[in-house]
Amino acid sequence: MEIDLHRLQKQSGIIGTSEKIFEVLGMIAQVAPVDISVLVTGESGCGKEVVARGIHKHSKRSFTPMVTVNCGAIPEGIIESELFGHKKGSFTGASEDRKGYFEQANKATIFLDEIGEAPLETQVKLLRVLETGEYMRVGESKVRYTDVRVIAATNKNLSELVKKELFRQDLYYRLKTVNIHIPSLRDRVEDINPFVERFALEFTRSNEILYRGFMPDAIRKMKQYDWPGNVRELKNFVEKVMVLEKGERITEEMVSRELDDVIAEPIPDNLKLPIPVDKSTEQAEIDIILRQLFSLKQDTEMIRAILSVDKDSSLFGVSPILPKDNLKIINPVNEKNLEVTEDGQPLIRDDAIGEIRMKDLEKEAIIRTLRFFNNNRRKTARSLGVSERTLYRKIEDYNLEPKIKRN
Ligand SMILES: Nc1ncnc2c1ncn2[C@@H]1O[C@H](COP(=O)(O)OP(=O)(O)OP(=O)(O)O)[C@@H](O)[C@H]1O
Ligand SMILES: [Mg+2]
Repeated sequence: MEIDLHRLQKQSGIIGTSEKIFEVLGMIAQVAPVDISVLVTGESGCGKEVVARGIHKHSKRSFTPMVTVNCGAIPEGIIESELFGHKKGSFTGASEDRKGYFEQANKATIFLDEIGEAPLETQVKLLRVLETGEYMRVGESKVRYTDVRVIAATNKNLSELVKKELFRQDLYYRLKTVNIHIPSLRDRVEDINPFVERFALEFTRSNEILYRGFMPDAIRKMKQYDWPGNVRELKNFVEKVMVLEKGERITEEMVSRELDDVIAEPIPDNLKLPIPVDKSTEQAEIDIILRQLFSLKQDTEMIRAILSVDKDSSLFGVSPILPKDNLKIINPVNEKNLEVTEDGQPLIRDDAIGEIRMKDLEKEAIIRTLRFFNNNRRKTARSLGVSERTLYRKIEDYNLEPKIKRN
């Protein structure tokens, strides 16, 4: 049967003219009508939910609403009761019998977003319900049955999680049978033009802003940027530029100015949020260190402003105003300043922060952030709020190359 991808595109609202997006549309067309579970992967903001909706819309189950569950947003303690329901009195606060999402989604589609965040114990139960449709409510021993079509999504590299024993291999194999991978926006820049047109039109329609279009040079400039936040970032960017340059035809200069601002932006605020307790020690540790660095950075910037000291080449723009005898701290943080956690991870002692030089912290932060992002320099640079070029220079300056390779 010849499937009209243009029609499917129109009906599902999936924008794009690139070959890559048409490959995605082709896969949707193939898998949507069949009751098979699908794993949708891709970086944050690249359209995983849009694709999941497209699949549901073109399935036999489209007459019922898709049930969406964000596995990353439900606290670990209640996720099973949310997914599978519970029996009255099965735990404190369970005052009524309750249906879970899988029961609600009977005869429909369930979208398990951020599946990589599901706790290991829950993964066993997910595998069972995926394979047989069977599940039990929390506090009950009666096996129930549900007829759901599962679409799961993640921006994590599940095979990496499997290696780290954070994701079950059997569930991974089960899920990845049908995998729709959505390429990042930077790898399909032809789509930027149609995205800009659509987002700009939608925005003018709802905000009564005069729209005179983007100059070809402006679009060309946007194609050079790497869009780590993908389509979501592009959409916000278009809206921002339209507000700031109200009623103007958008030029390359305007785009450059705004993009330079984005590139120079400090670390996003959400890194300053409290650390979820279910994070791995390593993750929690890097958060703590980064947080300490942020407050140190703020303090030192304040001191620098007071002393009007010139900027040096440090990552954090801090001049080495520490006394010379502090220089003996080497490689990279003195052992006495480190605590070793239960699972053998070094953690900088709280009360040692005052004794450590900015450069040592900087080096440590780079090493750990690189390790955290599996040596992905783009992500590391972004997370540390510096340009990739600065990061490369720092890696060279601190001679971190061999160290990174070893990890
Ligand atoms: N191909 C597309 N066509 C139309 N809109 C899109 C497309 N891709 C993404 N978008 C829009 O971009 C934004 C982000 O998309 P979506 O929420 O699907 O991303 P995601 O991959 O689920 O992101 P996250 O990993 O952060 O959850 C939404 O506003 C969505 O409407
Ligand atoms: Mg999403």
